[in-house]
Amino acid sequence: MQAWKEYQAENKDRFLSELLDLLRIPSVSADSKYKGDVSRCADAVLAHLLAAGCDTAEVCPTQGHPIVYGEKIVDASLPTVLVYGHYDVQPADPLNLWTSGPFDPQIRDGKIYARGACDDKGQMFMHIKALEVMAKTNSMPCNVKVMIEGEEEVGSTNLGKFLQDNKERLKADVVLVSDTSMISMEHPSIESGLRGLAYMEVEVTGPNRDLHSGVYGGAVANPATILCQMIASLHDENNHITIPGFYDKVDELSAAERAAINSAPFDLEEYKKELGVNEVWGEKGYTSLERTGIRPTLEVNGIWGGYIGEGAKTVLPSKANAKISMRLVPNQSSDEISDLFKAHFEKIAPSYVKVKVTAHHGGEAVVTPTDSPAYKAAAKAIVTTFGKEPIPTRGGGSIPIVALFEKTLGLKTVLLGFGLDNDNIHSPDEKYDVFNFYKGIETLPYFHKYFAESFGK
Ligand code: BES
Ligand code: MN
Ligand code: MN
Repeated sequence: MQAWKEYQAENKDRFLSELLDLLRIPSVSADSKYKGDVSRCADAVLAHLLAAGCDTAEVCPTQGHPIVYGEKIVDASLPTVLVYGHYDVQPADPLNLWTSGPFDPQIRDGKIYARGACDDKGQMFMHIKALEVMAKTNSMPCNVKVMIEGEEEVGSTNLGKFLQDNKERLKADVVLVSDTSMISMEHPSIESGLRGLAYMEVEVTGPNRDLHSGVYGGAVANPATILCQMIASLHDENNHITIPGFYDKVDELSAAERAAINSAPFDLEEYKKELGVNEVWGEKGYTSLERTGIRPTLEVNGIWGGYIGEGAKTVLPSKANAKISMRLVPNQSSDEISDLFKAHFEKIAPSYVKVKVTAHHGGEAVVTPTDSPAYKAAAKAIVTTFGKEPIPTRGGGSIPIVALFEKTLGLKTVLLGFGLDNDNIHSPDEKYDVFNFYKGIETLPYFHKYFAESFGK
């Protein structure tokens, strides 16, 4: 499409500078200190949607952070693509590990460094720019609805209700999301699944106050030691998770499906080198691609207790805590797994301590079909702009709302992400390649074109 190409070429510098402006807004959803910035970011997204050519757009307030919604309906007989993304970002700390400020975007070596560069401002902004390209060249193959939320990184607390309340308005033929990664630009891929999540917090309490570790140590159980023992027992010697019933509903894949997953290019030596580890770790009997794609896992996200300040303080802490999450695969239910975890953790607690287990947000796993017209349109779009057939992969991350698109709106999702696994999302020095940003803007309109064609339009 020549008109698309020309419009992109003429406006590419502006597209990039607009993204950098968006990245300057610290829209950290988890920290109430940034509430004003989050709402300022929603306003900025609204302005971009209107400028891109939406007929209508609005900031929809919620109990938490606002959702930005806009649409451009060109012809009721055309199919409709519902684009989803998020404008909120993860907290930036630890700040001292960033080469440049997380909200002072800088381009080094062709990469944009900033919190949210890849997850998800850089990627959701590609959709707004793709919409602009199609709208301003009067060549919209589909109707477009855009929903950009501000609470993805805190569990999309209020988006489920928004879906319920706006079923009519959100009517569409498919959901299109760019919030996942590709293997590499040489090996373009499309994620055909996401894992679910159950996130728990535990508190182990020993004595009723912090104690002198010489006067009492050795005679009273130390909750930090007990917590470590309890956590260590959650994996067995084969790194299987020991919670009774944990694997009961796990979908076991056929040998052919496993072979397909393992046929994706993956260099174990390169992987270890890049992460600075001597060996990989994981559930016995599975490859690294399977461990992150199709197997459930359990991770300690944070653990604390006792004295962590400067110098040494001899103390036997009264309490120790941890945040523990489990990634889930299709068929496992987030609520059921949370309940199993709680029952097990309470059961294994020795009588020296009391434990309190609470559940945070969660979400269900999804598998997106690879034989649907929507997936095929995405694959064809990739072939058009990358000159290669994309490889279907199973992603390890979670986007809990995707399961609700299906449950509430009856819509399947296509995960057309352009990030890379080493983009440092949620980490210091998050980045997104300028090349990927432009490639996304170039590819997305073709999705709309081929999707419309699959409807005979
Ligand atoms: N974009 C990520 C999810 C993701 C990353 C999927 C890479 C596939 C590949 C999303 O913003 C995210 O971080 N999700 C959270 C869950 C959420 C409930 C906080 C996650 O996966 O930890
Ligand atoms: Mn994301
Ligand atoms: Mn994220």
